[in-house]
Amino acid sequence: MLGKALLHQWTGDDITGIGSAQADIRNPDQVRTAIEHSKPDWIVLAAAYTDVDGCEINPTLASAVNTHGAVNVAKAAARAGSKLLFVSTDYVFDGKKDSPYETTDARTPINAYGRSKADAEEKLAQILPDCCIVRTSWLFGPGGKCFPDTILKVAANRKEIEVVNDQRGCPTYTMDLADAIIQLCRSGAKGIVHATNSGDCTWFDFAKEILRQAGVSTTVKPTMSDKYVRPAERPKYSILSPVSLSIHGIKMRVWQETLPDYIEERSRSNIELASSLSDRG
Ligand SMILES: NC(=O)c1ccc[n+]([C@@H]2O[C@H](COP(=O)([O-])OP(=O)(O)OC[C@H]3O[C@@H](n4cnc5c(N)ncnc54)[C@H](OP(=O)(O)O)[C@@H]3O)[C@@H](O)[C@H]2O)c1
Repeated sequence: MLGKALLHQWTGDDITGIGSAQADIRNPDQVRTAIEHSKPDWIVLAAAYTDVDGCEINPTLASAVNTHGAVNVAKAAARAGSKLLFVSTDYVFDGKKDSPYETTDARTPINAYGRSKADAEEKLAQILPDCCIVRTSWLFGPGGKCFPDTILKVAANRKEIEVVNDQRGCPTYTMDLADAIIQLCRSGAKGIVHATNSGDCTWFDFAKEILRQAGVSTTVKPTMSDKYVRPAERPKYSILSPVSLSIHGIKMRVWQETLPDYIEERSRSNIELASSLSDRG
């Protein structure tokens, strides 16, 4: 999802998108070959095993991709003289705070996904002390499985849905995050930066606003996460402070303002998909 947004938004520089088909980040040789081929000024590592429950069920895979894969990329970047921007997560925190997480707060992950990303952050800072670690949260955007897409699909066939109201975070539109990442690379950013859209909400608030803006009349009812037990525990509160981003002169829009762009982009891709299917007969 974020990789596609970066390729869409990044103009004016020579960009190469590398997917798992070209290089499995678990394989150091494939990573080295891919990086030495283009010797980039910057590498943005957006690849990860992002299925939070999948990571809990298979922590070995989580660690292989999210920690050791990131280490492979950092070592290859160091060898090629490339700068690295690593995309990390609000899930490096346990959610026990009641004020926004600052970049100086200790990592306290409570699930395997968060641990695998927190371990990567620590190792990358040793391999490439000047690398930039961008923590973000609750990503949504075109071309990927994300919360607004799921809500719109489910609501299309239901009069009423229930959504959890006891987890609070910052929804972040991939296109806006891509713009922030591009600016951070161009300004030579180093260290940890928290980058999310402004404002915060619960998943219940988010669902209500998605349906309101999409003009869908399905009723959304609040519920609690203990009603839907899942393999991985989620932090109850994972709002990331915008202070580190503002130091770089970047302010991201409030999340509600991004939804019209997402909804329009989603319906455009659905129309394109429907027309390509009808062309194929
Ligand atoms: N989604 C969120 O809510 C969220 C929140 C906070 C932070 N983040 C972070 O933001 C970044 C982007 O997330 P996203 O939601 O855009 O991810 P995504 O849509 O799940 O995409 C992840 C990408 O990583 C690739 N990948 C997985 N395993 C790989 C491997 N072994 N080698 C090479 N590529 C591999 C996948 O390729 P294939 O499909 O080909 O396997 C996929 O293209 C990630 O670092 C994630 O941890 C995400």
